[in-house]
Amino acid sequence: MTHYNPEHIFLSGFMGAGKTTVGKKLARRLETDFIDLDSLVEQKAGVSVREIFEKKGEKFFRKMERRCLQEVIRGPKGVVSLGGGSLQNQQLVDFVKLNGLLVFLETPFSVIFDRLKEQKDRPLLLDDEGNFKEQAVLKEELRTLYNSRLPLYEQAEMSIDSSEYESADKLVTALTKKIRDHVSHD
Ligand code: S3P
Repeated sequence: MTHYNPEHIFLSGFMGAGKTTVGKKLARRLETDFIDLDSLVEQKAGVSVREIFEKKGEKFFRKMERRCLQEVIRGPKGVVSLGGGSLQNQQLVDFVKLNGLLVFLETPFSVIFDRLKEQKDRPLLLDDEGNFKEQAVLKEELRTLYNSRLPLYEQAEMSIDSSEYESADKLVTALTKKIRDHVSHD
C-alpha cells in the first residue's frame, strides 16, 4: 500500500508546531496531495494572511478560513495543514472530524515560544503598529491562547508529540506508521 486516499488527514496544532513542514513531508510519504489552508486563503485573497488581518481584521480572516476549509473538504483527499486557529469552536472540530482524520501535532509551549519569538509573518504576535509585542506580554498572551485551544486540539483522534523525535523526518516516519495502522484497523 503506497498511495493513501481513504480520507483527508487534518494536521492541527498551535502556531509554530511545524504543521506545514510535517504536512508536506507526510503527503509525500503517503503519496497524496498536500494542502496548506493558510496558503489557500492567501491565494483566494490575493494578499498575505498578515495583510488580511491588517486590512480586514481577524473576523474576516476567520470567515475566509472557514470557507476555504469547506472547499478543501469538498475537494480531492489529501493532507491538510490547518492554521493554528482553524479549529475555531466545537462545531468546527466536529465538522473536521466528520470529514477526515484529525491529528494533533503536540509541541511543548516553551518550544513554540522560542520558535515564534522572531517571526513577523504571524499577525497575532504583532501590535497595532505591526511591531513585535513586548516579550513578557507576548508570552502571557500566547500561553493564554494556547491553553484555551488545547481542549479543541485534544479532541483529535490521533496525536503525536514532536518533542519525542529528533527531526521532522523521524516524526513523519512514526506518524505515517500510525496512520497506516489506523486505516488497517478500521
Ligand atoms: C493563526 C495561525 C496561523 C494563521 C494566522 C492565525 C492562529 O497559522 O492561520 O496567522 O490563530 O493561531 P499557523 O498555525 O500555520 O502559523
